Amino acid sequence: TYVIAEPCIDVLDRACVDECPVDCIYEGGRALYIQPDECVDCGACEPVCPVEAIAYEDDVPEALRPFIADNAQFFAEPLPGRDTALGSPGGAGKVGPVGADTPLVAGYPPRV
Ligand code: F3S
Ligand code: F3S
Repeated sequence: TYVIAEPCIDVLDRACVDECPVDCIYEGGRALYIQPDECVDCGACEPVCPVEAIAYEDDVPEALRPFIADNAQFFAEPLPGRDTALGSPGGAGKVGPVGADTPLVAGYPPRV
């Protein structure tokens, strides 16, 4: 799967969303997250991100590797304020902005 990492936090450019053929890039509160079971590894999202937040999982820089599991956790576990996990909704457009983040992303200081 492809992964969105720290550079997306508080930037949320969303250029990636328009490129994804399976609409598997979901909006949280401060960042976007790729649903690893829905991503078809096409690579279309990676070059359009202006802050280079997206990488194939094997190519995520060492310091940002926690974001691989974190993208998955966004869907696998209930987010703050929600009773159930998002799971595999089958399309970000119909879900819309979720308005919550994983603890990893929520814990980052605001980008100024
Ligand atoms: Fe974030 Fe880059 Fe997409 S900033 S929303 S990963 S284009
Ligand atoms: Fe979507 Fe392809 Fe990226 S399936 S998340 S545009 S690698």
